[in-house]
Amino acid sequence: LTPADAAPAADPSAAPSALAASPLATEVERRRTFAIISHPDAGKTTLTEKLLLFGGAINLAGEVKAKKNRRDTRSDWMSIERERGISVVTSVMTFDYRDRVFNLLDTPGHEDFSEDTYRTLTAVDSAVMVIDAAKGIEARTRKLFEVCRLRDIPIVTFINKMDRESRDPFELLDEIEKTLALDTAPLTWPLGRGRDFVGTFDIERGGVRLLDSKDDGHDSGGPPIPMEVPEIAALNPNLDAGEIAHELELVTEVCPRFDLAAFREGHLTPVFFGSALKNFGVRDLLDGLHRFAPSPRAQDSDAGPIDPADPRMSAFVFKIQANMDPNHRDRIAFARLCSGKLTRGMKARLVRTGKPMTLATPHFFFAQDRSIADEAFAGDVVGIPNHGTLRIGDTLTEGRDITFVGVPSFAPEILRRVRLSDAMKAKKLKQALQELAEEGVVQVFRPSDGSPALVGVVGPLQLDVLKARLAAEYGLPVEFDLAEFQLARWIAADDKAKLEEFIAANRSGIAEDLDGDLVYLARNEFYLGYTRERAPGIVFTDVKETQ
Ligand code: G4P
Repeated sequence: LTPADAAPAADPSAAPSALAASPLATEVERRRTFAIISHPDAGKTTLTEKLLLFGGAINLAGEVKAKKNRRDTRSDWMSIERERGISVVTSVMTFDYRDRVFNLLDTPGHEDFSEDTYRTLTAVDSAVMVIDAAKGIEARTRKLFEVCRLRDIPIVTFINKMDRESRDPFELLDEIEKTLALDTAPLTWPLGRGRDFVGTFDIERGGVRLLDSKDDGHDSGGPPIPMEVPEIAALNPNLDAGEIAHELELVTEVCPRFDLAAFREGHLTPVFFGSALKNFGVRDLLDGLHRFAPSPRAQDSDAGPIDPADPRMSAFVFKIQANMDPNHRDRIAFARLCSGKLTRGMKARLVRTGKPMTLATPHFFFAQDRSIADEAFAGDVVGIPNHGTLRIGDTLTEGRDITFVGVPSFAPEILRRVRLSDAMKAKKLKQALQELAEEGVVQVFRPSDGSPALVGVVGPLQLDVLKARLAAEYGLPVEFDLAEFQLARWIAADDKAKLEEFIAANRSGIAEDLDGDLVYLARNEFYLGYTRERAPGIVFTDVKETQ
């Protein structure tokens, strides 16, 4: 059963490379850096584990599981703390698959930490969207998808849990197209549903993969098995040959063909059906990533896009994580390489301060033994231990004076004032909040009228984390008080005089963030709208990107 007109999609690896074939360019061309986006419970952890299993990084798969087991008590600080420790290891999972190096960047599981998740998406070149076949597009998937769309990140879709009762696959594709305005090109098609799901039909090549094929990631998988419709229907008494034939005809006739250019531009998603739990469809997905996912893109900087094969090293920090030991203020900054080669011991320039920084002990993440690597290329992520020198959004270069743009900060949804039980420790609190803000745990806004600083978070769990860390790491017991303000928006204006005028008229609602950027604090949505209407020429934004 091979649809005559189903030509295999173009294989980008066969296309001439845009990069010259220097050793550096060859390394860059091999990299595939991606993240998984999904709604909680769709199967991200399970799929991550299985991708690592199929990619030969079994050790790490165990660690992902360990992390997952610790997730039961969501509000328990110790579990958050432990998870933070574990996720230092699992923040980046690097494994070889065939001739490629895959970097899978973990996006934190807690809904509350969505800010971290969004920032991680600035460091990837593609994403896998996991959808629960019974639920379709859910709120968080949609939100994360929008972030990907803003950056034109191509999306590969994996419709998971096909071994369970699911919605009609045509309906699911329709939902993706309608709610996300994204064309879909199924590359596999489910045969049977729920308990009667027997496997998938390979739309490009023809042939079938069966659910009981026992592919546990240890062999090469092999091509799909050629099978006629009556043979497929005979696999399960509840399958109907006529229905299967009709569906396959429909899917090959009606659904768009996979188009590499449309995918790379973010207009079309290839769709795979499977069951992560049963190791099914995972190899198809990996092969899909291998064939279609783009190599590292040129990254935008204030001096224009930086070519990944440019020999001069450059990188930006998208995530900071505190170390486990509360007695040391060690942090690991996660930096994505954008060009050149990063080696152990190299001297880099921290562009924000203009100061040199020796990268003495960068962590290189490799699945089996991360100590064996001692160089990284564009698309790779390195962990740089430091004592607070590095901040989110920082650019590191080999001497050049460029700054990468586009690492976002999001306006907080909750604002609070921090109350100290010991007023003598105000100075220490200021320092602690500064450090935690640099780490991205909290945002701090200092009102220009000199009143005490406000802290802003995206979700309530972040407040628990802040409180626990202030107590454990700084010896500062605190409480949070409601603030008179509920909303914060960054403000800017082309006309400086207009901005000055606005500041003068709204003095009690003006504050500065960590970087000294101006913020307008509003009592509520109504006030914000009211002020906005009366301030033409002032731009209010709820997302700030590093400039
Ligand atoms: P998440 O990281 O996206 O939150 O999802 P996770 O992988 O933790 O999966 C959520 C639940 O769905 C888990 O069950 C998991 O076993 C199940 N699951 C994942 N993929 C599949 C699949 O393909 N088919 C089926 N039938 N189930 C799947 P749980 O009972 O909540 O957790 P656990 O006790 O099994 O770990």
